[in-house]
Parts: sequence; C-alpha cells; structure tokens
Amino acid sequence: MPMRIRSRRLDALPPFVFAEVDRNRRAKAATGADIINLGIGDPDRPTPRFIIDAMQRAVAKPENHPYAYGGGTRLFRDAAAQFMLRRFNVNVDPARHILCCIGSKEGLAHLPIAVADPGDAVCVPEIHYPVYSTTASFAGLDVHFMPMNESNNWTPDFEDIPTDVRSRARLIISNHPNNPTGSCVGIDHYEKQVRFASTHNLVAASDQAYSEIYFEERPPSLWQAPSAKLDSTHAIEFHSLSKTFNMTGWRVAFAVGHPEIIAALASVKSNYDSGCFAAVQEAGAAALDHYDHPDVAGIREVYRERREALIPGLRSLGCVVVPPKAGFFCWARCPKGWDSNRFADRALDEAAVVVVPGAGFSPAAKDYFRIALTVETPRLRDAMDRLAQLKW
Ligand SMILES: Cc1ncc(COP(=O)(O)O)c(C=O)c1O
Repeated sequence: MPMRIRSRRLDALPPFVFAEVDRNRRAKAATGADIINLGIGDPDRPTPRFIIDAMQRAVAKPENHPYAYGGGTRLFRDAAAQFMLRRFNVNVDPARHILCCIGSKEGLAHLPIAVADPGDAVCVPEIHYPVYSTTASFAGLDVHFMPMNESNNWTPDFEDIPTDVRSRARLIISNHPNNPTGSCVGIDHYEKQVRFASTHNLVAASDQAYSEIYFEERPPSLWQAPSAKLDSTHAIEFHSLSKTFNMTGWRVAFAVGHPEIIAALASVKSNYDSGCFAAVQEAGAAALDHYDHPDVAGIREVYRERREALIPGLRSLGCVVVPPKAGFFCWARCPKGWDSNRFADRALDEAAVVVVPGAGFSPAAKDYFRIALTVETPRLRDAMDRLAQLKW
C-alpha cells in the first residue's frame, strides 16, 4: 500500500484562492505578457526611513541577538500599551494584557488551539481572511460561517447564529476594516460582539490588521466598547504593524486581551516559536511610538489617491463599487451578467490584469471581486484602460 505523505487535515482544506490566482498569473506571465497584478495585498512602498534607522541601531546590539522568549520585550509591550492609550484611549497593563506576535497571522493561527478543543465551534465571517477557518480546521474545530452580504454592509449579525452553534461555540471573530469587503463598523458592533460572547460564554476576537489605513473616521477598537473591560471581558484583539508601516516582511504584531487568554496564547506560542527577533521588536516599538509620524500619514494618502483614481475606472466598466472608507482593498460587483471567476479569467486572459475573484473567498461573494491598492496610480489607470477596451 502506498505510504500516505500528506495529512488528512491538509487534504481537507479548501483550495487557497491566492495560490490559484498566482498559478494563473504565472502561466500568463510565461507567455511574456506585461501583467498588472491587482491581486496581492502587500504594500509596494518601502518601510519609513525612521523605522529602518531604528532597526539598524537595534540589530547592532548583542543583547538583541538571543532567542526572544516570553511575551515580548518590555520596550515593545510598553510601546504597544502606549499605542492603545494614545490611539484608542484604552488603558492596558503591558505586562499582563499585551503579547508580541510574529505577525498577526501567527497569533490568529494559534488562537483556536489556545481557547478551544476538538469538536468545539468557531464563528467566522462567511467572507474572510482564510487563516481564520483553515487553522480552526487544523485544530479540529467546526467552523460556522456567519452570513455577510451587501444589504448587511458585509457585517455578520451575531443574533443569526443558530442556538445549537451558540452552545458549542468557543470563539467568535470580527475583522473590520474588513478584508476583502472593506466594510467598517462603529463601536456598537463590538459592544454587540462582547455582549453576545459573554452571554454565550465564548471568546470574542477582533482582527485590526487595517485599522490605520483609513480615509474617513478612524476605525475603533473592540476595547472601546462600553462593556469591554480588559480584566473581565473574554476578548482579544490583534494589531499588526505590517500594513500600517509597510512592514509585512518584518513579521511583528501584538495581541491585546484578557490576561488568561493572553497567557493561553503565550503558552501555545512557547511550543511553536521562540519569539520575534528582539531587534525587530525594538524597531517595532519605534514605529508604534510614532504612529502619528508624517510618513505614516503619507502611506494613507498614497492609498487615498489610488482609490480616487480607481473608482471611476471601475464604474465605467459597469461595476458597482462603494469606495472603501478604510483598508486598501476595493470590493466591486462584476459587470452585469458576469460572475467573478469568469470576470477574473477574462481580465487576465485578455487584459493581463490580475484581480481576486470573490468566489475564491466564499460562494456568497461569487459576483464580486477584490482589487488591492498596492500598485502605483499610473499602473492602476493602465489596468482600468485595458479592461475598458473589452466589452462587458
Ligand atoms: C485581515 C487580515 N488579518 C491579518 C493579516 C495578517 O497580517 P500580518 O501577519 O502581516 O500581521 C492579513 C494579511 O493580509 C489580513 O488581511
């Protein structure tokens, strides 16, 4: 009998939308086409100079070179706590409420193992960053998808969660500003989430990867909800330096949450990793200390300009699109008569433009596609011109 190499867990995963998009892109690129890739959500501009300078100083210090065991350096945790205070007016104890993560993906991926057991359920927004559901499956959890659509502003209604799921659920996840739909919420959303979580004895999680990429009002934190109290509310929120400071490759983020949840996640992490490089934490602290630096505001302005350039182009194709108030994705409905797979295939085949079909996230998103504002404005305009030349 042939030996089984891949685990059943891996085989059970749904196809990864970005892997498929990338396979198609590479096949097209092999024909020599000049591809405009609007698929990737990775900042195209460099990390601000003041952070690179801090890193260069930090990396030269021998005390930063050993394993960085523990929940994060004192310097980094203090900076994260100060960020929570200055940005959200939330008071936290850096020693008990903050945990440094190797990117928020890592923290989110380990959370299910920290708070739930096989057979428990996790409630995930139906259209979501795939890590929430894949890692919950790895942990042996049942994933309950909370419906999202245009008429509910792509925001799940917790009250729709069926009774049998409520009784098995251990974790409920929110992500606003949302990837991929761009939807934003007010503090009232988090108030509902923490109340729902406390009524049904589950952990509320919030992913704020895009909280600092905003064009209108500043997105709130779950910890601003009136009934959210760090020492008594079973909740955790993830903040990432990746998108805010163009630092995706650096791998640094933090979680802010109830001390027992922070300790549980730290325990899981201590078995999987040995901490985020202390020099990266030192540079990350410099970044958080200066989250209001003009270079950081400049990052937002770049996306704003690109958003303004893109929206009219999309509309001229017949796409319905609400300009995102935050995040760096535009979520658009395909021209009439097109579903997202056909739209994305044709955009690539005939215009060499890569977009991410909504169908890859969920059947509920089959008529929508996602564009990332991570290419320069002239290239975005070229992409729209190329698409406009096709009849839709
Ligand atoms: C919604 C969302 N959460 C979390 C992440 C992970 O970010 P990082 O691991 O770089 O902090 C991403 C990355 O694209 C994301 O889109």
